[in-house]
Amino acid sequence: MNLFVTGAHGMVGRAVVKHAEALDYQVASFTRSTLDITDADAVTREVARLRPDALINCAAWTDVDGCETDAKRAYAVNAGAVENLARAANKSNACFVTISTDYVFDGAKDGFYTQRDEAHPLSIYGQSKLDGERRAQAAHARTVVVRTGWVYGTHGTNFLSRVATDTANLIKELAARGANIKAINDSYGSPTAARDLAARLCELARLDLPGIYHVVGGGAGTDYATFARHFLEAAGFREEAAELETVSFHDLKRPAPRPVNSRLRCLLSEHIGLAPLPAWNEKVVMSDE
Ligand SMILES: NC(=O)c1ccc[n+]([C@@H]2O[C@H](COP(=O)([O-])OP(=O)(O)OC[C@H]3O[C@@H](n4cnc5c(N)ncnc54)[C@H](OP(=O)(O)O)[C@@H]3O)[C@@H](O)[C@H]2O)c1
Repeated sequence: MNLFVTGAHGMVGRAVVKHAEALDYQVASFTRSTLDITDADAVTREVARLRPDALINCAAWTDVDGCETDAKRAYAVNAGAVENLARAANKSNACFVTISTDYVFDGAKDGFYTQRDEAHPLSIYGQSKLDGERRAQAAHARTVVVRTGWVYGTHGTNFLSRVATDTANLIKELAARGANIKAINDSYGSPTAARDLAARLCELARLDLPGIYHVVGGGAGTDYATFARHFLEAAGFREEAAELETVSFHDLKRPAPRPVNSRLRCLLSEHIGLAPLPAWNEKVVMSDE
């Protein structure tokens, strides 16, 4: 299989390239400096030149608070550029897989969000990602939208990644600053290992069954504090030694609003023979290596 991967220097992009290469796929991978996906002509040219079987778009502007203050850039990368890729895939008769987010939901629902729930994003990031979903589907019938959330893995810089894969360094850094680990205990999501997501993205690209999929780690989901506690313990730190401080979601007063509950469940995956991904607390070693 010939794959075309964008955003290849991001957390998920790296995991996708690694997984696809291990499967012996032919992989053409692009970082922002080798292919800016907002450049429609360059995207069309590269896809036409390589004629892949499938494109997997892992590129996005993922700075949720940054998007809130620069909507133009958010829409250019997370919506307009996704349409560029979908159009190029259409012209080259390739399947198009693009990643979206749990932040398309507002968090007001109790329980899991499925594809039957209406999207109602609270932030510019969520709105731009939803627009990207819709523009891609309108531009190319062979579009697979993969909504995921709470992704963690090596090379990730978010809280979940640091606590799960780089625990000791995180604690050392915080201790040097005299700070504690601050974790929110009243916001819920479905943690998803980047390597499991990557494997599922490759599977969906091969299956070429268009639609919206919810792809997250299995199980009941959790809050950040419980997640952190689990990995601190697994790395041999007692909570009091690592000074885990729980905070309320509302106290952080971040620029962009976020859903307090964004746990996802998929109505389709099991019907097409895809097993649920492992739950975040089923495995202790979380390194992608
Ligand atoms: N991480 C999560 O918890 C999470 C949750 C839900 C959904 N997602 C989605 O999952 C996907 C992958 O996320 P991630 O966590 O791997 O993000 P990431 O680590 O920030 O990677 C995104 C990559 O996209 C690249 N990029 C940005 N603008 C670009 C452009 N104009 N042209 C080409 N590349 C560009 C970035 O390059 P630079 O670094 O050079 O800017 C970066 O390497 C995204 O669609 C994201 O919305 C992630």
